[in-house]
Parts: sequence; structure tokens; C-alpha cells
Amino acid sequence: MTGSVTFSMIKPDAIQDGQVGQIIAMIEARGFCLKALELTQLTLARAGQFYAMHKERPFYEQLCKYMASSPIIAMVLTKPNAVADFRALIGATDPAEAAPGTIRKRFGKSIEGNAIHGSDADETALIETRFFFPKLSL
Ligand code: RTP
Ligand code: MG
Repeated sequence: MTGSVTFSMIKPDAIQDGQVGQIIAMIEARGFCLKALELTQLTLARAGQFYAMHKERPFYEQLCKYMASSPIIAMVLTKPNAVADFRALIGATDPAEAAPGTIRKRFGKSIEGNAIHGSDADETALIETRFFFPKLSL
């Protein structure tokens, strides 16, 4: 399945603003198929683990607090070329720089509250999938 799986989270801001249905509709319209989905809330410690690669970055602590502040939706999605196609669909990290038609352009409010996460590589997609869905067979 390597190459055809990506992992995503709908972030707290988009859930609080009632944009889940519209975001999932955009994902499905782009040809992604849902393989797993869970509404859950990260503890501060789990958010820290998930974003451990950003530990040294100045925004790390605030990012972890934000991601643990209210529920997120974790999703595993399949499609050929999943990682790259999903990154194209979500757009640039900063919604102000995201291309028209992307999820972050439409729903992102700030560089932190940017509505959605997408894995950045095939290997990361598998690690992130296991982090939330350890029993899922891919
Ligand atoms: P993500 O991992 O959430 O899909 O986002 P990304 O790859 O586009 O961006 P990344 O560099 O991995 O950053 C992870 C998340 O950290 C927050 N961030 N804040 N204040 C800042 O300068 C800043 N930079 C990044 C964003 O929520 C970003 O999605
Ligand atoms: Mg990232």
C-alpha cells in the first residue's frame, strides 16, 4: 500500500466552526477513499509526540496546546499518489499563501489554525497512521 496512503487530521478550528462535512466532501470529490476515521482529543503529551519533529521550532509549544485544545478528526485516506495529491489539495501551510480551491485557502484562519494536516512523505503517513490506528491493516 506504500504510495497510496496518507494520514490527515481535521484540526480544532475547523471542527469548532462546523466545517467537517464540507472538508470531507472536498477530500472525497478529489478521489480519496476513507479507510479509517476517528473523532478524538489529543492530550498535550500526545500532541507533543505527534509533532516531535518540530520540537526545536519556536511555534512547537503553542502548536501542541492548540492541537490539544479541543477534538480533532484523524483520518486515513487512500488513492494513488496519496501524499503528494493530498498536499496539493490542502495547500500551503499559511492559508494566506494557499492556492485558490485548496482546503486551507477556503477554511484556514491562520498559520496555526489552518484547518487540516496532511502527511509529508509515505513513511510519515505510515508512522502517523500507526500513531492513531495501531490495529489497522493497510
Ligand atoms: P501539517 O504538518 O499540519 O500538515 O502542516 P505543514 O506540513 O504544512 O506544516 P509544518 O511545517 O509541518 O507545521 C506543522 C503545523 O505547525 C503550525 N505552524 N505554525 N506559527 C508558525 O510559524 C507555524 N508554522 C507552522 C501549523 O499549524 C502547521 O500546520
Ligand atoms: Mg507537516
